[in-house]
Amino acid sequence: MRYANLETLSHAAAEQIVTAASDAIAERGAFHIALSGGSTPRRLYQLLATDYAARVDWEQVWVWWSDERCVPPDSDESCYRMAKDTLLDFVPVPAAQIMRMEGERDPAIAAQDYETILIRHLGAVPALDLSLLGMGSDGHTASLFPDTSALTERSRWIIENFVPKLSMWRLTMTYRTINHARQVLVMASGAEKVMRYNQAQQPGCTLPIARVQPSPGWLVWMIGEQ
Ligand code: 6PG
Repeated sequence: MRYANLETLSHAAAEQIVTAASDAIAERGAFHIALSGGSTPRRLYQLLATDYAARVDWEQVWVWWSDERCVPPDSDESCYRMAKDTLLDFVPVPAAQIMRMEGERDPAIAAQDYETILIRHLGAVPALDLSLLGMGSDGHTASLFPDTSALTERSRWIIENFVPKLSMWRLTMTYRTINHARQVLVMASGAEKVMRYNQAQQPGCTLPIARVQPSPGWLVWMIGEQ
């Protein structure tokens, strides 16, 4: 789906999440969502904390992350910090249901522990209700960057991934986790990302985002033209 700009895109994404939460809570008594980092979802998170807050039963929401930078939680780089500052400080998600990736720890240990917790709560084949993803201008998603080892991971659910071009470690959901989600919502805005979106629709595309192919869940693209 295409939208004129980030504002209309963010409202549409908020509606999508409100509906997904309502359905999941009605059917299973909980809504497990994985948030993404970056700048694109900021407005969405602000809207969920304000205009749309009353339409979500936050007590039944579990917040996970699709990825995290290996930085402390109070870092300006932290995906958790961004979500806390725009959403989590304003809605009553129980603290025990905010499943922060521990970017401050050794990446391999933090990834293994997060995978253990994910499986403990969601079972041996964890299926999130909704995995929210962004897309970088290089076609990366979560922290699945081009030419990095996490792209080929087939058995792990959460893995540490060194990103040479950023010279930093990341924690990320693998394709296995993303593609087991009941719904994957990809938000991207701006001309460069529209171009990458079009590229990703081509058969045989090798961009990391092109391998987001949830099954049996479904993939929703929400694209802002500017
Ligand atoms: C992150 C995100 C990442 C992000 C893209 C797009 O940790 O940075 O998870 O995958 O979604 O880099 O970022 P922007 O929204 O800032 O363009």
